[in-house]
Amino acid sequence: MMRTTALAVLLAASFSATAAEGAKPKIDLAKAKEIAESICVGCHGADGNSAAAANPHLAGQIPQYIYKQLTNFKPAGDKPAVRDNAIMAGMVATLSDEDMQSLAAYFSQQKLKPAAASDEQLIAEGRKLWRMGDFDKGVPACSGCHGATGAGLPAQYPALAGQFAEYTEDQLKKFRSGERANDPEKMMRTIAAKLSDRQMKAVAEYAAGLR
Ligand code: HEC
Ligand code: HEC
Repeated sequence: MMRTTALAVLLAASFSATAAEGAKPKIDLAKAKEIAESICVGCHGADGNSAAAANPHLAGQIPQYIYKQLTNFKPAGDKPAVRDNAIMAGMVATLSDEDMQSLAAYFSQQKLKPAAASDEQLIAEGRKLWRMGDFDKGVPACSGCHGATGAGLPAQYPALAGQFAEYTEDQLKKFRSGERANDPEKMMRTIAAKLSDRQMKAVAEYAAGLR
């Protein structure tokens, strides 16, 4: 009897979870703007154009990617967050699924004021890696997944064009060390493991200058 009741509760819970997943998310852009202007503004700017390189630009990013990252910053039950970042964990803690969907839509609709690239030598090296990869090391071209102009490809592949070079380089290092481990099928960890520090710096500089 006890077991039947527990099972019934479990089934009911999983049924309502499935029902919630199937439902079309309600996007509330006005609420997202309010959250952006009161919370996110401190680091990413109210319009997703951040002032400091440690905080990535969010403006114009692929919405599904933004949403995935927000969910990845949350611990799932007793499992640690797949994208482990103390600052962002605090930010998403109180956001509902609907808030995260809405924020993703809101920031994706903002206009990016892109970062600038300046080091010509690095840019040339980065361009080659971006367009052709590194055959000897078995590194595929970044353009294959992030697009020729770095605009990204919906829904999985984020835009990198105009992002701060320091942020991009730092994420590549985090993929290489495994500190960031939320990439599907280890796509980025496999690539980053083969890149030298110099290559990371070069490709990050190149991407910052992409439009
Ligand atoms: C106190 C500073 C701070 C605040 C406030 C903040 N963030 Fe962040 N956010 C960061 C930092 C730092 C990172 C980069 C984490 C890393 O290095 O992996 C980040 C990363 C992100 C990313 C991942 C971007 C990418 O390109 O992968 C998203 C999405 C994001 N933040 C959304 C938000 C939203 C939405 C809010 C408001 C609810 C917010 N953040 C508030 C500091 C902040
Ligand atoms: C096979 C496809 C694929 C290729 C090739 C690829 N990437 Fe990625 N990359 C991804 C995926 C998928 C993600 C998103 C991971 C996630 O969901 O968090 C990503 C994420 C990233 C991020 C994190 C962006 C952010 O906003 O935090 C950086 C930086 C990055 N890639 C750089 C590169 C560079 C540089 C190259 C070329 C050397 C490259 N990628 C090649 C698939 C790829």
